[in-house]
Formats: sequence, structure tokens, C-alpha cells
Amino acid sequence: MLFDTHCHLNSDELYPKYKEIIKEAKRNNVEVIIVPGYDLLSSQRVSEIVKEKNIYGAIGLQPEEIDKTDVNSLFDLFNTIKSNNKIVAIGEIGLDYYWEKDESKKQIQREIFIKQIKIANELKLPIIVHSRDALQDTLDILRAHRPIMGGVMHCYSGPKEMVPEFIKLGMYISLGGPVTFKNARVPKEVATSIDINYLLIETDSPYLAPHPLRGTENNPSNVRLVAEEIANLRNMKLEDLEAVTFKNATKLFGINYEN
Ligand code: NI
Repeated sequence: MLFDTHCHLNSDELYPKYKEIIKEAKRNNVEVIIVPGYDLLSSQRVSEIVKEKNIYGAIGLQPEEIDKTDVNSLFDLFNTIKSNNKIVAIGEIGLDYYWEKDESKKQIQREIFIKQIKIANELKLPIIVHSRDALQDTLDILRAHRPIMGGVMHCYSGPKEMVPEFIKLGMYISLGGPVTFKNARVPKEVATSIDINYLLIETDSPYLAPHPLRGTENNPSNVRLVAEEIANLRNMKLEDLEAVTFKNATKLFGINYEN
């Protein structure tokens, strides 16, 4: 059984066909999916999508979307979380300095990230963190504003040496399509060296389709290719890798999985 911990069924690409994608995923043994929000519309769509069995969601404002989003309306959505037990995290939130070079806007990213960590702590929910070209600042913020229910470094692209620093703060590490890419030395090192009790897997659909589907529209069924690559790298059986990452995800997100 597989658990895709990060899948944008709420994206413009996948939302029109999310019900079929979920059916296809279940046929492929992908039993549970987490759908993170990234802006207002995608976060609103989450409450609809999580009506499906074994589909859970998160609400959050992703750093790249800050300028394009009605931030107050999105923050109002956090008030709806208490009445929806299928919203299991705040995310995705974080820092993206790859797309943002302006120092004052980076400061706004940091402030909004911290605000959302505080909301997660008030609601006693884990966080889903997006971090691109900003790993040290992300770590510094998590140290200063510790997520009390932990969280996940989604599609982690940092070096293996920093992994234990995040784990110390209650964070899990999630690997996606890039670990399957032929020249992806760094994520492969993370896959082989990480304490497996802190490893999650994801697709980040519709983006980052794994090898050999790289460049195509990704979907949650492809999380199997991520699992197979990590199992190969670690010389372990696929079903053992599936079992431990499934258990890790249900623990982090507080999910009681029922068939
Ligand atoms: Ni995402």
C-alpha cells in the first residue's frame, strides 16, 4: 500500500478530473493521498476533494503565491479547519528564494511562513514545508518557531548532512520524482542515508514526474516509481519500504487508516 503525501489534485491541471485520478490511484495500490493548498482557490478546492474516502488535505499559502493571493481571505479559511477533521496539516508553506530575489519580498515570505507555523501550533497540526534555495533560513525559522506537531520537508532537495537537523525539530523528509532522475546524486544520497523512520514519499503531481515519465503530467499512481527507486537504493524489499513510509505518514498526519 502506498501513501502519496503531496499531490495537487487541486491544481488547474488535475482538478477537472480528480475523481478519475483517485480511482486510478486506488487501482494502483495508492490508498491515501494528501492534497496541500498553495493559494486561496487551491485551498478552497481542498475542502471539496477531501470528501473522497482516504483523501486528506492541507490549507496554506505557498511563498511563490503571496503576491497573487488575497492573503486575508486565505487566512480566514484557517477558521474552517476545526470543523473539518480531514484537513490534517497547514501547508504548503515556506520560503522560495529561487523565484524571489528581492530582499524585502523575502522578508515578507519569512513573516508569512512564521504566521502560518503559529496557526499550525494553535490548531495542533503538522506543517508541510516548501523550501527552495532557502534551506538555512528555513532551518533557522523552524528552530526559532518550532512546529509542535512536527511536519514534513516536502520534496527535500538539500544535502544529506542537513537531514538530521530537520529531524531533530520533528520534521520528516519527503522524497519525490527527482530521486529517480539519473543524475540526481544528492537526493539519492539522502534516500540511502536517512533514518527510514523519518522518510515519506510523494509525487507533487502534476509536477516532477519520475523517471521514465519525466516531463509528462504527473499523477499519484507514479508514487510507486519513487518507492521502487528508494527500495533499490537501500537494497530493501518494495513492500517493506511501502509499509514503513505508509506508517510514517499516518503517524505524522494523525490518520487512522481504514480499508
Ligand atoms: Ni506542492
